[in-house]
Amino acid sequence: MKTTIKQIGQHENESVTLGAWLANKRSSGKIAFLQLRDGTGFIQGVLVKAEVGEEKFKQAKELSQESSLYVTGTVKKDDRAPSGYELAVTDIDIIHEASEYPITPKEHGTEFLMDHRHLWLRSKKQHAIMRIRNEIIRATYEYFNHEGFVKVDPPILTASSAEGTTELFHTKYFDEDAYLSQSGQLYMEAAAMALGKVFSFGPTFRAEKSKTRRHLIEFWMIEPEMAFMDHEESLEVQENYVTSIVQSVLTNCKEELAVLERDTAVLEKIQAPFPRISYDDAITFLQNEGYEITWGEDFGAPHETAIAEAYDKPVFITNYPKDIKAFYMKPHPERDDVVLCADLIAPEGYGEIIGGSQRIDDEALLQQRYDEHSLSADAYQWYMDLRKYGSVPHSGFGLGLERTVAWISGTEHVRETIPFPRLLNRLYP
Ligand code: 4AD
Repeated sequence: MKTTIKQIGQHENESVTLGAWLANKRSSGKIAFLQLRDGTGFIQGVLVKAEVGEEKFKQAKELSQESSLYVTGTVKKDDRAPSGYELAVTDIDIIHEASEYPITPKEHGTEFLMDHRHLWLRSKKQHAIMRIRNEIIRATYEYFNHEGFVKVDPPILTASSAEGTTELFHTKYFDEDAYLSQSGQLYMEAAAMALGKVFSFGPTFRAEKSKTRRHLIEFWMIEPEMAFMDHEESLEVQENYVTSIVQSVLTNCKEELAVLERDTAVLEKIQAPFPRISYDDAITFLQNEGYEITWGEDFGAPHETAIAEAYDKPVFITNYPKDIKAFYMKPHPERDDVVLCADLIAPEGYGEIIGGSQRIDDEALLQQRYDEHSLSADAYQWYMDLRKYGSVPHSGFGLGLERTVAWISGTEHVRETIPFPRLLNRLYP
């Protein structure tokens, strides 16, 4: 009977065969302990010399780390084992003997591990982070499908910038200039006018010269956009969505959270509604805490962390000054110096995970913003059309997947939350 480590519990006291890699091993005279992994999990195989015979025992004892093999054995319940089971091995069949493996169980420096990212992914911790990332993606589709959103895929090659910034990757598009997408938002607005409630999930690219634990050059964003929804309604979608992914990880990734030694009591408190603080009040709060910051400045990581520390849930910072935000954000109805937007700051210093806003729906005002930001009327003509043909109030947001994975899994640096990170000085492997 062929099975996987994840499903092995269904075969207690039965004989099964696993395709596996040897993650680690140790032996004491007549018994060998094989740490096996098969992609679905990790399990210990126990080989007793007297039962498998001299030759198989010797083969197993000499097998190099990361060799691949078929292992046959009887499934035994073992409450001390992380998977809850152990395999009493009766036979091994070696598929491939691995060369000397560079990532041994000893400590390695980060640069060394990043150079060997293609192999590092096999380790227990990295495996757990990738599974949590996968669960967040799965829960995202579940949440938005359940709420009646349609998945729409915006283009990656674009003729103009979505955020109106200079951090663009340029490429040639035959005889024209093109840029890698920084955000699918503008296209998602068009999609919302066609389909009502939509969401996208895809890679985005920012040529930011930032070398922090929160910045990637290539990262994945989930971007919902909702017609007939104002800013306040959008905040409710955001807090319900974030609650649902956190709770899904708690339910479906218990083993992974345990491997990462994540404090789950902290995550259990993550339930909507989330607290809200206005930009104005956040500035006053920071000044009272002794920070030198004045109204009109953007927050840096230390500011965000100080604000987050006042709460045990993610916190929305709302209504930022219009001058430090993107051109498309709708002004506050009572003040034209701030806009209807919010950033969601994760607890425990993981920083901003969502940026969102209500969008300008008035044609004349949008035209004024194009002029103020020197945006080319040609490149943005199609976007203006959305304000000409049945314009409606609409809102949306973007959740950065890697920062969210970092927070939920308790991983210090975003480079470990994406399979192959693209960083300021890293395009390999
Ligand atoms: O706040 P941002 O720039 O928002 C937008 O791009 C909007 N157009 C989204 C929308 O309304 N549809 O980015 C959204 C999120 C941030 O909160 C952060 O989580 C993540 O994207 N992010 C990054 N993650 C990793 N590395 C970077 N360099 C990131 N820049 C932004």
